[in-house]
Amino acid sequence: MSAVTSEAVRIFPGPAPRLFGYDPRFGKCDSINFPYTNLKCQRKRRLRFAKVLKCSSVVHNGVRSSRLWGTGGAWFRSTSVNGLCLLRCNCQRAETGSLNEISTQDGNGAWFVESSKIIDPINGIVNGPSALEFQDVQQSSQEREAFVTNGNLSPTETPKSLIPRVSVDSIEDEAWELLQKSMVYYCGSPIGTIAAMDPTSSNVLNYDQVFIRDFIPSGIAFLLKGEYDIVRNFILHTLQLQSWEKTMDCHSPGQGLMPASFKVRTVPLDGDESATEEVLDPDFGEAAIGRVAPVDSGLWWIILLRAYGKCSGDLSVQERVDVQTGIKMILRLCLADGFDMFPTLLVTDGSCMIDRRMGIHGHPLEIQALFYSALLCAREMLAPEDGSADLIRALNNRLVALSFHIREYYWIDMRKLNEIYRYKTEEYSYDAVNKFNIYPDQISPWLVEWMPNKGGYLIGNLQPAHMDFRFFSLGNLWSVVSSLSTMDQSHAILDLIEAKWSDLVADMPFKICYPALEGQEWQIITGCDPKNTPWSYHNGGSWPTLLWQLTVACIKMNRAGIAAKAVEVAERRISRDKWPEYYDTKRGRLIGKQARLFQTWSIAGYLVAKQLLASPSKAKILFTEEDSDLVNAFSCMISANPRRKRNRKGLKQSYIV
Ligand code: GLC
Repeated sequence: MSAVTSEAVRIFPGPAPRLFGYDPRFGKCDSINFPYTNLKCQRKRRLRFAKVLKCSSVVHNGVRSSRLWGTGGAWFRSTSVNGLCLLRCNCQRAETGSLNEISTQDGNGAWFVESSKIIDPINGIVNGPSALEFQDVQQSSQEREAFVTNGNLSPTETPKSLIPRVSVDSIEDEAWELLQKSMVYYCGSPIGTIAAMDPTSSNVLNYDQVFIRDFIPSGIAFLLKGEYDIVRNFILHTLQLQSWEKTMDCHSPGQGLMPASFKVRTVPLDGDESATEEVLDPDFGEAAIGRVAPVDSGLWWIILLRAYGKCSGDLSVQERVDVQTGIKMILRLCLADGFDMFPTLLVTDGSCMIDRRMGIHGHPLEIQALFYSALLCAREMLAPEDGSADLIRALNNRLVALSFHIREYYWIDMRKLNEIYRYKTEEYSYDAVNKFNIYPDQISPWLVEWMPNKGGYLIGNLQPAHMDFRFFSLGNLWSVVSSLSTMDQSHAILDLIEAKWSDLVADMPFKICYPALEGQEWQIITGCDPKNTPWSYHNGGSWPTLLWQLTVACIKMNRAGIAAKAVEVAERRISRDKWPEYYDTKRGRLIGKQARLFQTWSIAGYLVAKQLLASPSKAKILFTEEDSDLVNAFSCMISANPRRKRNRKGLKQSYIV
């Protein structure tokens, strides 16, 4: 890559200066303070129809612009050297190598980079040797055999025999084709996938954006296929958005927040009538329906980053200084002190896949499972350095406390139900058994009916005097994947899925939560949301995308047969129904009333499930195993738990919880 300017580019903390471009949303904004275009690609209008944009091919006279971000989230552009035309894709900014040259003065200090060492991040080395590639070829046939024995299929059944061969292949081919078509390009490089490509829908809303959470199954599908560039680009570009200065009605959410989604926009280039530029325009929830906070985005980002490294063998991305800083920013945001009494993450309603009011404010399971998973992934990736010792200590303490809290207080099965049913209330003491003052009358009749003798699950939420007994699938599945649940609990969750197949899978996998809120409960809890009517959308709808998380969880527990059966159910209809976003009714028989068709994560979720069932060992890129320190700490805490044992003898090690 030819370097041009030798001057240092300085990144200032604090409010970001306006760089360039114009923001249609804030036309009158102060030209100094508005940081609209921190990422952009400029091109001549005449190139508008060019399919693949070669931004660098229109560079003239060596003018360069480099921007970087620092912990303060500020941006600064420095251009220099003889020339006028700034037509180089600015997303090919100072990165990879040059960032190693950065010196930080302190957490808020200025950052410097030598622009003369600019390396193109997009065309950098990506498709390097895959860590999994070689072993997988050999393993694949063994795995198929193991799969039959370890899964729940009878020895005479094979996964393939469950489904008609020809049609399944064509479903897969169609899915790949659709996934390919959903790819979104920025500066000529793929950086994500659009949420949906529904030609029948007139109201696009934000389904034309790249959602962080929606991209995860797409990214995994690409990784498993050996297409690493798109994932790498996604990771690096969303990282840049993290430091965006975001405001909602004069309030700025915490640094480290990742957007819910972003869109690549083509806008006129400032001061040049004949040119346009591409900009990445993120939404941190400030435009989202209900203004929901995308708490899950950063957690998924960390999980994907680890998967990228594991699958591609390219650890250089996670080792980069800016990526390390990005991880730490997310962690700091999540680990910051608050008023909270619990180790679980306190969030507002709709802060995850369920991004509407559904009574999941407080400490919803899905966020806790992703939080736990992200903490483990981050711990694996963080480079040991003096500056992060406190952070790592806080992370370790939180891991122990979080797993103890969830395993102890979120778990429900027949035994625990009996215990809650006979709870004493109003216990004022340090060693109360009914710590959260749960009134037994909260146990709904459906739960008593529904709870199988064999099996159990983690409840949806726990607050003072409140247990949300609904079964939330993603939270339970990801607890299995991340080892947030114990081995026994994880098996019990899968037992429950088998026992409640007709409720959770029925005609289309997988129910997002069970049961639906109905009547007055629906009115009060959803605020009479017409999109979340009973057994629709987030309120008990069935979401095919959840197939991939189900598959990872089943493979982790060596019970892949469960997932294979669910995939087979989906295959009966999913392509014929045009890959809907979700299904309605108790058994998932109807395509969701307002569901998008050709929803990308339905397509990608199916593909990931298929890929992993074909090569189960690849699911390892997503698991996190419990480490022995955690197990030890957990057993110490169990023995110190007043419900089990009231004295603290035998507690070998103390953990701050
Ligand atoms: C809906 C879903 C959300 C998803 C988005 C884009 O809002 O609730 O989880 O990310 O659509 O598909």
